[in-house]
Amino acid sequence: MNNIIARFNELVPSALPFVEGKLEGHKERKNYSIVGPGVAEDSKQFIKIAKPHGFNLGAVSAMPKNGSGLHSHTTAEVFIIYSGSWRFYWGAEGKNQTILNEGDIISMPTNMFRGFENAGDKEGLIFVVLGEDDPGIITWVPEVLDKAKKTGMALLDDNSLIDLSKNKIPEGRKLLEPINQDQINKFENFNLDQIQPYISKIKNRLEFEKNIGEQLKLNQILGNKFEKENFNPLIEQHTGFNLTVLKGTKGKVENLSFEKSTILFSQKGNWEIIIDDKKYNLSAKDTLSVPVNSKVNISINNQEISFLNCVSKL
Ligand SMILES: [Fe+2]
Repeated sequence: MNNIIARFNELVPSALPFVEGKLEGHKERKNYSIVGPGVAEDSKQFIKIAKPHGFNLGAVSAMPKNGSGLHSHTTAEVFIIYSGSWRFYWGAEGKNQTILNEGDIISMPTNMFRGFENAGDKEGLIFVVLGEDDPGIITWVPEVLDKAKKTGMALLDDNSLIDLSKNKIPEGRKLLEPINQDQINKFENFNLDQIQPYISKIKNRLEFEKNIGEQLKLNQILGNKFEKENFNPLIEQHTGFNLTVLKGTKGKVENLSFEKSTILFSQKGNWEIIIDDKKYNLSAKDTLSVPVNSKVNISINNQEISFLNCVSKL
């Protein structure tokens, strides 16, 4: 029961998590691995709760005009905007884009290049849920790898990160070659209309809220289950996990029990979580891994509307 809580202020971010980390537009960024084995190319990335959950939770903070380069994953990647305004762009050339704000959520289609940057005027924070225990390798567009190499950063053929300004290529290893046009053509692209079903904006969620417990509201974002109850999700995509947002000012829901790996993470407000009679105070940005089949009570007593995210394995 010891390592179930990840306080945000105790996390150790990587300042060079991925191959493009030394480039302008990417270097003023911090990458946090919170739950699960993670995906950072930085093999030294600190992970707070490394135990496999069937998904991974991380976070990215970045300064204005900074973020991630165009890359693709083979599993789900869901972004939850905690603060600020963020530009998401996608496709091999990154030509399509949309701006998302605090509370908005986008679940990127797999096998499609995506990047993001802080579009606001101060540091912003997003939380990221990735599918599966091992989300597999990250594929970068050739331009990112080419530019990164000029800063000394490259990937080896086992996808590990190497700083060529400090280290030699280890014996028996080669640098990873950028993918060619034929390979690029095999990736998906979506136009702006086609991406809309993958986006849930907070301002469009009110009419879909359901009551849960005493004076709490619920929005089912992904998957069709919160604890044992079924709900229709706002984003219909198979990601391998449920994502639910609980909302309230003063309220509670009691006697929950999750049969699969589950995490609760506060986006806003100090939530009180009682697990088998042990009390945890979950402040904004903190994460709790809920032991399966334990008895869970959740409550909030705040002046402002508060939000608690829940991700559980399908
Ligand atoms: Fe990613």
